[in-house]
Amino acid sequence: MLEKLDSLRAEFGLALGEVKTSAEVLNLKAHFIGKKGEISQILKGMRDASNEDRKVIGAKANSLKLDIEKALADKLQEIEMEAINAKLASQRVDLSLRDSVMDRGLDASGLHPVTLIQREIEDIFTSMGFAILDGPHIEDDYHNFEALNIPGDHPARDMQDTFWFEDMEHLLRTHTSSIQVRGMEVNEAPFKFVGPGKVFRNEAVDASHEMVFHQLEGMMVGEDISVANLIYFMKTLLSEVFKQDVEVRLRPGFFPFVEPGFELDINCLICGGKGCSVCKNSGWVELLPCGMVHPNVLKAGGVDTEKYNGFAFGLGLDRLVMMRYGIDDIRHIHSGDLRFVKQFKAF
Ligand code: FA5
Repeated sequence: MLEKLDSLRAEFGLALGEVKTSAEVLNLKAHFIGKKGEISQILKGMRDASNEDRKVIGAKANSLKLDIEKALADKLQEIEMEAINAKLASQRVDLSLRDSVMDRGLDASGLHPVTLIQREIEDIFTSMGFAILDGPHIEDDYHNFEALNIPGDHPARDMQDTFWFEDMEHLLRTHTSSIQVRGMEVNEAPFKFVGPGKVFRNEAVDASHEMVFHQLEGMMVGEDISVANLIYFMKTLLSEVFKQDVEVRLRPGFFPFVEPGFELDINCLICGGKGCSVCKNSGWVELLPCGMVHPNVLKAGGVDTEKYNGFAFGLGLDRLVMMRYGIDDIRHIHSGDLRFVKQFKAF
């Protein structure tokens, strides 16, 4: 009987190696350790054996039974895990789409031109020591208006009509200038940062106006900052982006959060300044409003205005993309038309 147990162990080992499904595992269980299985038969046959033999055979049979039970349980778990993994693999959703894009080669598409230009400008500013900050799309009245020197009854609120939430306290931010306020909350002067992102306005859409577009805010606060510093950084930015000399003009511009405020326009690169629908036949495109930060804004941000001052700007990224790539209608940019996006193939 002892030899029989040895050969059963070997037989079980071989049979286990062949098993592929959980049903086969259950069959094996019945065959070896079931009520009428091989081991039960051996135990039944022990009736005629001596007490001494019974002890030895019983112990050996029990240990074989336990080993078989464990091996079968492990096998069952292995088969179940394989089934779960196969199911997960077959149902996998590639949320990034990156693999499938890579599979189809660079022809498939690339980064959106707004992302490309945003990253390029971030690189330009980080190389000049600016930090990069983020802010929420859903803002409160305080960060979007109040702290930027635009109280509730200020007519400037009409310049940026937006989408309000029912509580009339929260809104979709109308500009990235709210990042100025958030930046001052987390930084001690002196500091300099840029903050890119989506902004939203309740606006009539045309060749140069979208309801959802992108801006990149910039703010520099320190001692003795002047308009000359502001112009230097803006010129450096534009010559890096366009990689050519662009004609710019500075004219007075009104924003309650800067004093003095300017509009920096560039000569329209779509029509070369002759006049088109993008520049509304003026030959100039409004690209970069900027100015010296109003003391009220610095005070609201906890900055000591006796010691520090600064400049800020708010760059329209979509219009910059239009100028750079010669796109004559802003509506192409977020149309979702692959024929448009496929022209920008950088990853
Ligand atoms: C502002 O949003 C100010 N927060 C900018 C600023 C920042 C001024 C810091 C001073 C200091 P404005 O509404 O002009 O300003 O918008 C800024 C830029 O966003 C514009 O020059 C333009 O390039 C772009 N822009 C504005 N409205 C739209 C629109 N509807 N569609 C596409 N681009 C737009």
